Amino acid sequence: MSGSEGGMKNKLFLGIDLGTSHTAVMSNRGKKFLLKSVVGYPRDVIGLKLLGRPYVVGDEAFEMRSYLELRYPLQDGVLSELSDRDLQVARHLLTHVIQQAAPQEGDEINAVIGVPARASGANKSLLLKMAHEVVNTALVVSEPFMVAYGLDKLVNALIIDIGAGTTDICALKGTVPAPEDQVTLTKAGNYVDERLHNALIERHPELQINTNVACSVKEMFSFVGPVTAPAIAEFRAGGKPVQCDVTEPVRVACESLMPEIIESIEGLLRTFQPEYQSTVLKNIVIAGGGSRIRGIGTYIEEKLRAYGEAKVTCVGDPTFDGCRGALRLAEELPPQYWSQLGDVAGG
Ligand SMILES: Nc1ncnc2c1ncn2[C@@H]1O[C@H](COP(=O)(O)OP(=O)(O)O)[C@@H](O)[C@H]1O
Ligand SMILES: [Mg+2]
Repeated sequence: MSGSEGGMKNKLFLGIDLGTSHTAVMSNRGKKFLLKSVVGYPRDVIGLKLLGRPYVVGDEAFEMRSYLELRYPLQDGVLSELSDRDLQVARHLLTHVIQQAAPQEGDEINAVIGVPARASGANKSLLLKMAHEVVNTALVVSEPFMVAYGLDKLVNALIIDIGAGTTDICALKGTVPAPEDQVTLTKAGNYVDERLHNALIERHPELQINTNVACSVKEMFSFVGPVTAPAIAEFRAGGKPVQCDVTEPVRVACESLMPEIIESIEGLLRTFQPEYQSTVLKNIVIAGGGSRIRGIGTYIEEKLRAYGEAKVTCVGDPTFDGCRGALRLAEELPPQYWSQLGDVAGG
Protein backbone atom coordinates (compact mmCIF):
# COMPACT_ATOMS: atom_id res chain seq x y z
CA MET A 1 0.00 0.00 0.00
CA SER A 2 1.07 3.59 -0.47
CA GLY A 3 1.46 6.10 2.33
CA SER A 4 -1.30 8.15 3.92
CA GLU A 5 -3.23 10.59 1.78
CA GLY A 6 -4.36 13.09 4.36
CA GLY A 7 -7.56 13.25 6.33
CA MET A 8 -9.91 11.74 3.73
CA LYS A 9 -9.62 8.21 4.97
CA ASN A 10 -10.81 6.50 8.12
CA LYS A 11 -7.91 5.57 10.33
CA LEU A 12 -7.57 2.13 11.82
CA PHE A 13 -4.98 1.97 14.62
CA LEU A 14 -3.45 -1.32 15.69
CA GLY A 15 -1.20 -2.30 18.56
CA ILE A 16 0.60 -5.55 17.77
CA ASP A 17 2.83 -7.49 20.16
CA LEU A 18 4.77 -9.89 17.94
CA GLY A 19 5.90 -12.45 20.48
CA THR A 20 7.87 -15.64 19.97
CA SER A 21 5.02 -17.83 21.10
CA HIS A 22 1.96 -15.59 20.79
CA THR A 23 0.93 -12.48 18.93
CA ALA A 24 -1.46 -10.18 20.77
CA VAL A 25 -3.44 -7.53 18.92
CA MET A 26 -5.76 -4.66 19.88
CA SER A 27 -7.46 -2.13 17.60
CA ASN A 28 -9.03 1.27 18.22
CA ARG A 29 -12.34 -0.27 17.17
CA GLY A 30 -12.41 -2.70 20.04
CA LYS A 31 -10.91 -5.78 18.37
CA LYS A 32 -8.73 -7.75 20.75
CA PHE A 33 -7.25 -11.15 20.05
CA LEU A 34 -4.38 -13.51 20.67
CA LEU A 35 -3.01 -16.16 18.35
CA LYS A 36 -0.08 -18.50 18.29
CA SER A 37 2.79 -17.00 16.25
CA VAL A 38 2.84 -19.94 13.89
CA VAL A 39 2.00 -20.69 10.26
CA GLY A 40 1.27 -24.20 8.97
CA TYR A 41 1.94 -25.39 5.41
CA PRO A 42 0.71 -28.65 3.84
CA ARG A 43 3.45 -31.29 3.65
CA ASP A 44 2.26 -32.62 0.30
CA VAL A 45 -0.69 -32.62 -2.13
CA ILE A 46 -2.81 -34.69 0.26
CA GLY A 47 -2.27 -32.08 2.95
CA LEU A 48 -3.15 -29.41 0.45
CA LYS A 49 -6.36 -31.22 -0.38
CA LEU A 50 -7.23 -31.67 3.30
CA LEU A 51 -6.52 -28.03 4.02
CA GLY A 52 -8.05 -26.53 0.90
CA ARG A 53 -5.75 -23.47 1.04
CA PRO A 54 -2.03 -22.84 0.81
CA TYR A 55 -1.43 -22.14 4.50
CA VAL A 56 -3.15 -21.67 7.83
CA VAL A 57 -2.20 -19.32 10.66
CA GLY A 58 -2.27 -19.46 14.45
CA ASP A 59 -3.99 -21.91 16.77
CA GLU A 60 -5.79 -23.57 13.87
CA ALA A 61 -2.42 -24.45 12.33
CA PHE A 62 -1.25 -25.88 15.64
CA GLU A 63 -4.31 -28.10 15.88
CA MET A 64 -3.72 -29.49 12.39
CA ARG A 65 0.00 -30.01 12.99
CA SER A 66 -0.12 -33.74 12.20
CA TYR A 67 -0.30 -33.02 8.47
CA LEU A 68 1.22 -29.54 8.35
CA GLU A 69 4.74 -28.27 8.56
CA LEU A 70 4.76 -25.65 11.30
CA ARG A 71 6.96 -22.56 11.05
CA TYR A 72 7.49 -20.06 13.86
CA PRO A 73 8.72 -16.89 12.14
CA LEU A 74 9.82 -15.17 15.35
CA GLN A 75 11.72 -18.09 16.80
CA ASP A 76 14.13 -16.08 18.91
CA GLY A 77 11.90 -13.11 19.23
CA VAL A 78 13.20 -11.61 16.00
CA LEU A 79 12.71 -12.78 12.46
CA SER A 80 14.80 -15.86 13.01
CA GLU A 81 16.88 -16.21 9.87
CA LEU A 82 16.75 -13.69 7.13
CA SER A 83 15.92 -16.14 4.39
CA ASP A 84 13.14 -15.25 1.94
CA ARG A 85 11.25 -18.23 3.28
CA ASP A 86 11.18 -16.85 6.83
CA LEU A 87 10.12 -13.45 5.67
CA GLN A 88 7.36 -15.10 3.70
CA VAL A 89 6.19 -16.91 6.86
CA ALA A 90 6.19 -13.62 8.78
CA ARG A 91 4.27 -12.00 5.93
CA HIS A 92 1.60 -14.70 6.10
CA LEU A 93 1.32 -14.21 9.86
CA LEU A 94 1.05 -10.44 9.65
CA THR A 95 -1.38 -10.53 6.72
CA HIS A 96 -3.61 -12.83 8.74
CA VAL A 97 -3.38 -10.53 11.78
CA ILE A 98 -4.44 -7.52 9.70
CA GLN A 99 -7.36 -9.46 8.18
CA GLN A 100 -8.51 -10.52 11.65
CA ALA A 101 -8.46 -6.87 12.68
CA ALA A 102 -11.18 -6.38 10.05
CA PRO A 103 -10.15 -3.20 8.23
CA GLN A 104 -12.79 -1.64 6.03
CA GLU A 105 -12.44 -0.72 2.39
CA GLY A 106 -10.32 2.42 2.12
CA ASP A 107 -9.11 2.46 5.74
CA GLU A 108 -5.73 3.93 6.47
CA ILE A 109 -4.04 1.33 8.69
CA ASN A 110 -1.47 2.55 11.22
CA ALA A 111 0.25 -0.14 13.25
CA VAL A 112 2.68 0.03 16.14
CA ILE A 113 4.52 -3.28 16.34
CA GLY A 114 6.53 -4.38 19.37
CA VAL A 115 9.64 -6.50 18.83
CA PRO A 116 12.39 -7.60 21.27
CA ALA A 117 14.49 -4.79 22.70
CA ARG A 118 17.63 -5.34 20.70
CA ALA A 119 16.30 -6.85 17.50
CA SER A 120 19.13 -6.28 15.07
CA GLY A 121 18.88 -3.40 12.65
CA ALA A 122 18.72 -5.71 9.66
CA ASN A 123 15.87 -7.73 11.08
CA LYS A 124 13.93 -4.62 12.01
CA SER A 125 14.19 -3.08 8.59
CA LEU A 126 13.12 -6.32 6.91
CA LEU A 127 10.20 -6.57 9.27
CA LEU A 128 9.26 -2.99 8.52
CA LYS A 129 9.49 -3.42 4.79
CA MET A 130 7.26 -6.43 4.98
CA ALA A 131 4.80 -4.70 7.34
CA HIS A 132 4.56 -1.80 4.94
CA GLU A 133 3.17 -4.17 2.31
CA VAL A 134 0.11 -4.76 4.49
CA VAL A 135 -0.37 -1.48 6.37
CA ASN A 136 -0.01 2.20 5.49
CA THR A 137 2.22 3.23 8.37
CA ALA A 138 4.20 0.85 10.56
CA LEU A 139 6.32 1.75 13.57
CA VAL A 140 8.55 -0.84 15.17
CA VAL A 141 9.33 -0.23 18.86
CA SER A 142 10.88 -2.41 21.53
CA GLU A 143 8.46 -4.60 23.48
CA PRO A 144 9.39 -3.28 26.93
CA PHE A 145 9.05 0.31 25.70
CA MET A 146 5.51 -0.36 24.55
CA VAL A 147 4.70 -1.93 27.94
CA ALA A 148 6.20 1.15 29.65
CA TYR A 149 4.16 3.50 27.49
CA GLY A 150 0.93 1.71 28.35
CA LEU A 151 1.68 1.87 32.07
CA ASP A 152 2.90 5.49 32.11
CA LYS A 153 6.31 4.33 33.30
CA LEU A 154 8.34 6.46 30.93
CA VAL A 155 10.81 7.94 33.37
CA ASN A 156 12.99 6.46 36.14
CA ALA A 157 11.66 2.96 35.67
CA LEU A 158 12.86 -0.49 34.60
CA ILE A 159 10.70 -2.90 32.63
CA ILE A 160 11.54 -6.60 32.48
CA ASP A 161 9.59 -8.53 29.86
CA ILE A 162 10.00 -12.29 30.29
CA GLY A 163 8.65 -13.98 27.17
CA ALA A 164 9.14 -17.42 25.65
CA GLY A 165 12.28 -16.82 23.57
CA THR A 166 13.77 -13.72 25.15
CA THR A 167 13.83 -11.66 28.32
CA ASP A 168 13.95 -7.97 27.41
CA ILE A 169 14.98 -5.39 29.97
CA CYS A 170 14.68 -1.69 29.35
CA ALA A 171 15.61 1.43 31.29
CA LEU A 172 13.15 4.32 30.90
CA LYS A 173 14.74 7.75 31.15
CA GLY A 174 12.06 10.03 29.79
CA THR A 175 13.20 9.60 26.20
CA VAL A 176 12.91 6.90 23.58
CA PRO A 177 15.25 4.18 24.88
CA ALA A 178 18.63 4.03 23.16
CA PRO A 179 20.24 0.67 22.38
CA GLU A 180 22.44 0.97 25.48
CA ASP A 181 19.31 1.34 27.65
CA GLN A 182 18.15 -2.13 26.67
CA VAL A 183 19.30 -5.69 27.22
CA THR A 184 18.01 -8.85 25.56
CA LEU A 185 18.69 -12.16 27.28
CA THR A 186 18.09 -15.41 25.43
CA LYS A 187 17.11 -17.23 28.61
CA ALA A 188 13.35 -17.02 29.01
CA GLY A 189 10.33 -19.35 29.19
CA ASN A 190 11.59 -21.88 26.63
CA TYR A 191 14.86 -22.20 28.51
CA VAL A 192 12.98 -22.96 31.74
CA ASP A 193 10.99 -25.64 29.88
CA GLU A 194 14.20 -27.30 28.69
CA ARG A 195 15.83 -27.18 32.11
CA LEU A 196 12.73 -28.62 33.74
CA HIS A 197 12.35 -31.28 31.06
CA ASN A 198 15.93 -32.46 31.57
CA ALA A 199 15.63 -32.44 35.35
CA LEU A 200 12.41 -34.44 35.27
CA ILE A 201 13.64 -37.17 32.91
CA GLU A 202 16.81 -37.49 34.93
CA ARG A 203 14.90 -37.94 38.19
CA HIS A 204 12.08 -40.04 36.79
CA PRO A 205 13.20 -41.91 33.65
CA GLU A 206 10.01 -43.98 33.76
CA LEU A 207 7.78 -40.98 33.08
CA GLN A 208 6.63 -39.98 29.60
CA ILE A 209 7.66 -36.35 29.43
CA ASN A 210 8.31 -34.02 26.51
CA THR A 211 8.86 -30.26 26.51
CA ASN A 212 5.12 -29.59 26.14
CA VAL A 213 4.49 -31.57 29.32
CA ALA A 214 7.35 -29.76 31.07
CA CYS A 215 5.90 -26.43 29.93
CA SER A 216 2.45 -27.22 31.37
CA VAL A 217 4.00 -28.35 34.65
CA LYS A 218 5.93 -25.07 34.77
CA GLU A 219 2.88 -22.96 34.00
CA MET A 220 0.89 -24.72 36.70
CA PHE A 221 3.46 -24.63 39.51
CA SER A 222 6.09 -21.99 38.64
CA PHE A 223 7.67 -20.22 41.60
CA VAL A 224 10.96 -18.82 42.88
CA GLY A 225 12.13 -18.40 46.48
CA PRO A 226 10.74 -20.16 49.52
CA VAL A 227 8.35 -23.08 49.05
CA THR A 228 4.81 -22.21 50.11
CA ALA A 229 3.07 -25.41 49.01
CA PRO A 230 4.41 -28.65 47.53
CA ALA A 231 3.95 -29.02 43.76
CA ILE A 232 2.46 -32.41 42.96
CA ALA A 233 2.05 -33.05 39.24
CA GLU A 234 0.36 -35.91 37.44
CA PHE A 235 2.25 -37.77 34.70
CA ARG A 236 1.94 -40.99 32.76
CA ALA A 237 4.24 -43.98 33.11
CA GLY A 238 3.56 -47.05 31.00
CA GLY A 239 0.20 -45.52 30.11
CA LYS A 240 -0.92 -45.25 33.75
CA PRO A 241 -1.29 -41.98 35.70
CA VAL A 242 1.29 -41.40 38.45
CA GLN A 243 1.86 -38.48 40.80
CA CYS A 244 5.23 -36.89 41.47
CA ASP A 245 6.54 -34.14 43.69
CA VAL A 246 8.13 -31.62 41.31
CA THR A 247 8.67 -28.79 43.80
CA GLU A 248 12.46 -28.76 43.70
CA PRO A 249 12.97 -29.17 39.92
CA VAL A 250 10.39 -26.44 39.25
CA ARG A 251 12.06 -24.05 41.66
CA VAL A 252 15.53 -24.72 40.25
CA ALA A 253 14.35 -24.33 36.65
CA CYS A 254 12.54 -21.03 37.34
CA GLU A 255 15.40 -19.64 39.41
CA SER A 256 17.83 -20.37 36.57
CA LEU A 257 16.56 -17.19 34.89
CA MET A 258 17.23 -14.98 37.86
CA PRO A 259 21.01 -14.40 38.00
CA GLU A 260 21.20 -12.80 34.55
CA ILE A 261 18.10 -10.73 35.20
CA ILE A 262 19.51 -9.40 38.48
CA GLU A 263 22.85 -8.70 36.84
CA SER A 264 21.17 -6.78 33.99
CA ILE A 265 19.07 -4.76 36.45
CA GLU A 266 22.24 -3.81 38.34
CA GLY A 267 23.97 -2.86 35.11
CA LEU A 268 21.10 -0.68 33.88
CA LEU A 269 20.56 0.87 37.32
CA ARG A 270 24.09 2.23 37.22
CA THR A 271 23.34 4.07 33.96
CA PHE A 272 20.87 6.39 35.75
CA GLN A 273 22.08 9.55 37.45
CA PRO A 274 22.85 8.73 41.10
CA GLU A 275 20.07 10.98 42.45
CA TYR A 276 17.46 8.94 40.54
CA GLN A 277 18.67 5.46 41.40
CA SER A 278 16.60 5.00 44.55
CA THR A 279 13.46 6.05 42.61
CA VAL A 280 14.27 3.59 39.83
CA LEU A 281 14.70 0.79 42.37
CA LYS A 282 11.12 1.38 43.54
CA ASN A 283 9.84 1.42 39.97
CA ILE A 284 10.63 -2.02 38.56
CA VAL A 285 7.91 -3.75 36.55
CA ILE A 286 7.80 -7.33 35.30
CA ALA A 287 5.78 -8.11 32.18
CA GLY A 288 5.27 -11.05 29.81
CA GLY A 289 4.26 -14.63 30.59
CA GLY A 290 7.19 -15.00 32.98
CA SER A 291 5.68 -12.37 35.27
CA ARG A 292 3.28 -15.14 36.32
CA ILE A 293 6.08 -16.93 38.19
CA ARG A 294 4.98 -16.87 41.82
CA GLY A 295 7.21 -14.95 44.19
CA ILE A 296 9.23 -13.30 41.43
CA GLY A 297 8.69 -9.74 42.68
CA THR A 298 9.75 -10.49 46.25
CA TYR A 299 12.67 -12.60 45.01
CA ILE A 300 14.11 -9.74 42.97
CA GLU A 301 13.50 -7.22 45.76
CA GLU A 302 15.51 -9.41 48.14
CA LYS A 303 18.36 -9.83 45.68
CA LEU A 304 18.60 -6.07 45.24
CA ARG A 305 18.63 -5.41 48.98
CA ALA A 306 22.25 -4.24 48.90
CA TYR A 307 21.20 -1.32 46.66
CA GLY A 308 18.45 -0.08 48.98
CA GLU A 309 14.73 -0.62 49.16
CA ALA A 310 13.39 -2.03 45.89
CA LYS A 311 9.79 -2.35 44.77
CA VAL A 312 8.98 -4.81 42.03
CA THR A 313 5.46 -5.17 40.63
CA CYS A 314 4.01 -7.47 37.99
CA VAL A 315 1.70 -6.20 35.25
CA GLY A 316 -2.01 -6.90 35.64
CA ASP A 317 -2.51 -8.46 32.21
CA PRO A 318 0.68 -10.08 30.88
CA THR A 319 -1.09 -11.20 27.70
CA PHE A 320 -2.41 -7.85 26.48
CA ASP A 321 -0.53 -5.11 28.37
CA GLY A 322 2.11 -4.92 25.63
CA CYS A 323 -0.24 -4.47 22.69
CA ARG A 324 -2.47 -2.21 24.81
CA GLY A 325 0.53 0.11 25.23
CA ALA A 326 1.32 -0.09 21.51
CA LEU A 327 -2.26 0.85 20.64
CA ARG A 328 -2.23 3.73 23.09
CA LEU A 329 0.99 4.99 21.53
CA ALA A 330 -0.51 4.67 18.06
CA GLU A 331 -3.60 6.65 19.05
CA GLU A 332 -1.95 9.34 21.16
CA LEU A 333 0.96 10.25 18.95
CA PRO A 334 0.12 11.23 15.36
CA PRO A 335 1.86 9.04 12.77
CA GLN A 336 3.86 12.01 11.48
CA TYR A 337 5.86 11.92 14.75
CA TRP A 338 6.46 8.20 14.73
CA SER A 339 9.85 8.47 13.09
CA GLN A 340 11.10 10.08 16.32
CA LEU A 341 10.21 6.93 18.23
CA GLY A 342 11.77 4.21 16.16
CA ASP A 343 11.94 2.79 12.67
CA VAL A 344 9.00 3.76 10.50
CA ALA A 345 7.78 2.66 7.11
CA GLY A 346 5.19 4.80 5.34
CA GLY A 347 3.53 7.76 7.10
N1 LIG B 1 2.14 -19.33 35.04
C1 LIG B 1 3.28 -19.24 34.37
N2 LIG B 1 4.48 -19.39 34.99
C2 LIG B 1 5.63 -19.32 34.31
N3 LIG B 1 5.72 -19.10 33.00
C3 LIG B 1 4.57 -18.92 32.32
C4 LIG B 1 3.30 -18.98 32.96
N4 LIG B 1 2.35 -18.76 32.01
C5 LIG B 1 2.99 -18.59 30.85
N5 LIG B 1 4.32 -18.70 31.02
C6 LIG B 1 5.37 -18.65 30.01
O1 LIG B 1 5.48 -17.37 29.43
C7 LIG B 1 6.03 -17.54 28.11
C8 LIG B 1 5.19 -16.79 27.12
O2 LIG B 1 5.17 -15.44 27.48
P1 LIG B 1 4.79 -14.35 26.40
O3 LIG B 1 4.97 -13.04 27.07
O4 LIG B 1 3.45 -14.67 25.84
O5 LIG B 1 5.93 -14.67 25.35
P2 LIG B 1 6.29 -14.06 23.93
O6 LIG B 1 6.08 -12.57 24.04
O7 LIG B 1 7.73 -14.45 23.74
O8 LIG B 1 5.38 -14.73 22.94
C9 LIG B 1 6.03 -19.02 27.79
O9 LIG B 1 7.33 -19.56 27.98
C10 LIG B 1 5.08 -19.56 28.84
O10 LIG B 1 5.32 -20.93 29.15
MG1 LIG C 1 6.29 -10.68 24.52
